Amino acid sequence: MSKQDEKNQSGKDPGRTTLRRAAIAVALAAGLVALGAGIYASGIYEPIAQSPDREPDEGRELAEAAAERRAEWLAEREAYTDDPEANPPALPVSGEGYFIPNDVADAPDNEFGDSVRRGYEVFTNTQTNASQHVGNGLNCANCHLGAGTVPKAAPMWAAAAEYPAFRGKNKIINTMEDRIHGCFTYSMNAQGSPSGNPPPRDGDIYKDLQSFFYYMAEGAPLEGNLPGRGYPVPPEPEQGYSISRGETVFENNCAVCHGTDGAGRQDPNGRWIFPALWGEDSFNWGAGMHRVNTAAGFIKNNMPLGQGGSLTDQQAWDVAAYINSWERPADPRQFRDGLTLTETDEQFHEQSPNFYGDVVRGNLLGDGVPGEPTEQPPSAGAPRHADQASR
Ligand code: HEC
Ligand code: HEC
Repeated sequence: MSKQDEKNQSGKDPGRTTLRRAAIAVALAAGLVALGAGIYASGIYEPIAQSPDREPDEGRELAEAAAERRAEWLAEREAYTDDPEANPPALPVSGEGYFIPNDVADAPDNEFGDSVRRGYEVFTNTQTNASQHVGNGLNCANCHLGAGTVPKAAPMWAAAAEYPAFRGKNKIINTMEDRIHGCFTYSMNAQGSPSGNPPPRDGDIYKDLQSFFYYMAEGAPLEGNLPGRGYPVPPEPEQGYSISRGETVFENNCAVCHGTDGAGRQDPNGRWIFPALWGEDSFNWGAGMHRVNTAAGFIKNNMPLGQGGSLTDQQAWDVAAYINSWERPADPRQFRDGLTLTETDEQFHEQSPNFYGDVVRGNLLGDGVPGEPTEQPPSAGAPRHADQASR
């Protein structure tokens, strides 16, 4: 959706919002069918309504109920602002108990609303709107589903109120800008981008993304995790995790969209339809998703797309191991700090389950995909804090 379209839809009518969502769902479903995937995934961008066994109509009704509850909450708050003796508004939550974020389509018609809409555009179409700083085929929303609204898909309304945060690991306060900077460095593989770096500090990309997150989180309590934050990781199964079992899970449940080679799929114009899970167009070895536990949490709750929760914990851990047992862009910390692969492994990869520095199928993992990034050490783009890594 172009920026202009988005602006035109900034009215307050919740019916329009629902229509927009329905249109997105239909367009996406049509795209899938056209691809011959034969999968009907209507409603997958429907944040509140996402569930494996729900009919599209039911999803629409839930979305309308959520919009109504949100409107009630705004009215309650206004009454309270005007009169301290009125009841303070209760947290706006859906029938399922999750926080109901503001809808970007309702953002105000002023400079702040413009920033919210720009942030939304960067988040959902990072490929185009932050192209100078993206070195793979991903958009933020590929991992933070429903444009950062879906519970258990690391929603931004749950993250917004949690920064700045003190992180015991490095004993340093991390701001939201630090966090976003880390996502560009690792998840978006900025070292392979045209600029070779994440967006410059203090720039508009950070401001707009933060406006967008802040707007969605309006009414969320500061501090204290809301349910649905992050990717809840299922307990590691007794049998551990296995690349070879994961291969079977992958072939039966994932390859239809992501490709047997995990490289994802682009339309004839080069736009990504299904994102890459490994190889040069995917996240790099420093990203949180390269950890088997984190990927298992994402997959268990969100994949196959539109059928989150359908895999067993064992299947989620196994397939997480499988996708993370292939080569991907190198860990930028290796070049930033001038380390060997073994040193990088020791310093950054020993605290979590992952295959960095292991020999799998006869190949030493961690060298990165061919052609990068040794030509372009990401010095200027290096994170300020060592532990901001892995996000
Ligand atoms: C390859 C998947 C992936 C992509 C792409 C991605 N992220 Fe993330 N993001 C993660 C993971 C994994 C975490 C850590 C979640 C956890 O630990 O539960 C995370 C965490 C975050 C957090 C902190 C969430 C919290 O609750 O504390 C923010 C903010 C964030 N990402 C923003 C972004 C932005 C902005 C972009 C695009 C520039 C982006 N992410 C791209 C995987 C991704
Ligand atoms: C119906 C098609 C479909 C199926 C089947 C599917 N995915 Fe996805 N997957 C997607 C799409 C589309 C996205 C991006 C979501 C978005 O942008 O809203 C995605 C995102 C992801 C991501 C995060 C982005 C990235 O590239 O790293 C991972 C990891 C992932 N899928 C793994 C899996 C695994 C594992 C399976 C099998 C258990 C699976 N997917 C099945 C369509 C699918």
